[in-house]
Amino acid sequence: MGPLKGQMLWLQVESGVWKATVGTPEEYSLLSASGSQPLKEGFSRLPKVVLPELASSVTGTVQDGKTYLSIPLSKEEQLYGFGLNFKTVHQRGKILNLHVDHYGGSDNGRTHAPVPFYISSQGYGILINSARYLTVYAGSGITKDSPDAEKAKDRNTDKTWTSQPYSDAVSVLVPASGVEIYLFAGPTPMDVVRRYNLLCGGGTLPPRWGLGFTQRTPVLYTAEQVEKEVDEFERHGYPLDFIGLEPGWQSKAYPCTLEWDSNRYPDPGSFVQRLLDKGVRINLWTNPYISPDSQIYKDMYPVSGSHTVWGGIVPDLVTEKARRLWQDKLMQEHISIGVGGYKIDEVDGYDNWLWPDIATFPSGISAEQIRQTYGMLTQRITNDIFRKQNRRSYGLVRASNAGACSFPYVLYNDYYDHRDFITALINSGFCGVLWTPEVRGTKSAEEWLRRLQSVVFSPMAMIDSWASAVKPWTFPEVASLVKEYALLRMQLIPYLYTEFARYHFDGIPPFRAMNLEPGFNLKEAISQELGSQNLEENPYLEVVKKEIKDQYMVGEYLLVAPMFTGQTSREVVLTKGNWYDFYTGEYVGNGEKIIVTPGLDRIPVFVKDGAVIPMMEPMLHAPKSGQIVNMEIRHYGKANGHYRLYDDDGETFDYEKGLYSWRDIKIERQKNGKWKGSISKIESGKPNSIGKVTWVFMTKD
Ligand code: GAL
Repeated sequence: MGPLKGQMLWLQVESGVWKATVGTPEEYSLLSASGSQPLKEGFSRLPKVVLPELASSVTGTVQDGKTYLSIPLSKEEQLYGFGLNFKTVHQRGKILNLHVDHYGGSDNGRTHAPVPFYISSQGYGILINSARYLTVYAGSGITKDSPDAEKAKDRNTDKTWTSQPYSDAVSVLVPASGVEIYLFAGPTPMDVVRRYNLLCGGGTLPPRWGLGFTQRTPVLYTAEQVEKEVDEFERHGYPLDFIGLEPGWQSKAYPCTLEWDSNRYPDPGSFVQRLLDKGVRINLWTNPYISPDSQIYKDMYPVSGSHTVWGGIVPDLVTEKARRLWQDKLMQEHISIGVGGYKIDEVDGYDNWLWPDIATFPSGISAEQIRQTYGMLTQRITNDIFRKQNRRSYGLVRASNAGACSFPYVLYNDYYDHRDFITALINSGFCGVLWTPEVRGTKSAEEWLRRLQSVVFSPMAMIDSWASAVKPWTFPEVASLVKEYALLRMQLIPYLYTEFARYHFDGIPPFRAMNLEPGFNLKEAISQELGSQNLEENPYLEVVKKEIKDQYMVGEYLLVAPMFTGQTSREVVLTKGNWYDFYTGEYVGNGEKIIVTPGLDRIPVFVKDGAVIPMMEPMLHAPKSGQIVNMEIRHYGKANGHYRLYDDDGETFDYEKGLYSWRDIKIERQKNGKWKGSISKIESGKPNSIGKVTWVFMTKD
């Protein structure tokens, strides 16, 4: 059969979001598997836009049972996203095979969240809503009739010959005879990301305790050892909000029984309760593969896939029965006694032990589609249990995909490169997932501190000691600095929590690339800001064109530039506007590259002009529901400050019923030249956690 031209009819589904279909899309897709519903209300705060011009040039063809997509690409355009990549932020020119897998050290599309969504620096985005392994040519290949094709050059004599001449399209091969495509308008790349996150339900809002510190214990720890560890944290004065038990809490693991080991954990109920009384929650490691020794094995057997993983069965989580069996077991054994969350391991890969692509599942969904969505299904299903209890959870998972941003999970893996972990953190903000650059064992005190400093500025402040048994105080020479940073993390909770609320309500990722900053964009730099493409007249262009993969934004105001082991100085790129040092309040630069030479005691952090950073007292545990804490609200720079501080009970889903508040903070210069801060009153009937406020004006005249 010859090619069937797809009908590219764009239908508006939300403000600034259009959908088109080519051929006959499959019923089972990424968005259907996630079950997410758009957070409609959030779209009202985005600019009104019209269908981007390029919509009419997107083409789709069905041939040979596959769908070929082509989306135009202009010369001055950079692409971001395509899932959780570790090596680069600029994705133009890549060829990727998007496939859920444990990341193996090269950005080839096999990763924990191979989300088929990308953002163009031109201010639009594309999502391919397919749960298949997609091949993406992100600007490689050019058709013979392209009007913009570069002329053929003679490599023998022409030095400007290049192996990758300009490609005029992003092409995607979908191994199915139809697909849905979503087109997101901007105008800015940040608006595109916001629309994407809102379409997927809005970002997750973790419980406050989820933003505190967490430690994971060695595999075979007993209840007694875990309690001792919790006490040691307290005694040493290090914060701890939740602690993770690794495989040894289960009677059998790999595959799992999901049942407590009665020797190591003789009385799980009172163990969990004793820790809760100390303000520490339990997080349980597991994988979903069920051991023949589990009580649910027999019932699960008929609703599991054809193949085993380490001799365990693979629940077909698309079926209602498998979901229910798994949920009931988790509820009965763990959640009902107060367990706060899970670390759901091994849902990504590796190929060598996961089910092969020829496996079959009772739901009739292919092994490939199950692979692409399994991690997301585990997130959705566990989140549903906590929801029913009206308790928020926050945990870890090793696989995700498009549609999962409202689930309370942070991605992690076994690969352990500090620089690449930071690049992954930056890229996570482009695809609606969260990533932790966790600190595990290290070779030196320097590395320990450097990694810990970046962990403090990440979605989950985690020390992962499952294999190394390290403690925050393991390196005495840096122990007090480790404590200082761990407490700084605690102080930042009001700010981080507010930034997560903005993720939820407005789709703004709390950890994100510089490329999502206003004005830090090729298109804007050329057209609006400075008008000239000439580098000499417009040096900012050089800054904007640069790929930045080792510094990122934390929320509205903080720019974090991690230091890596062995480094004593580094370059930091500052976007337009005045920037100030977080620790001293001193001016550092504006729209330029600076070199910084911090000591080991400092991870470089810079703050925008007019920034308002609400910080709480340094406490060992995040505030509980209803607990009042005193605040230090800092102001930086010369501009007046305005911030809306988010508040709710921090633990339940009551915010979905309107039980939250945004408190207006204003910091203004008075006629006498002095700064003055004010915060709006508590609305009656709304939750409040804010006590006494101290104003600190960091920048001296
Ligand atoms: C790995 C996981 C580690 C740790 C370990 C325990 O698969 O990535 O973080 O949990 O299992 O066996």
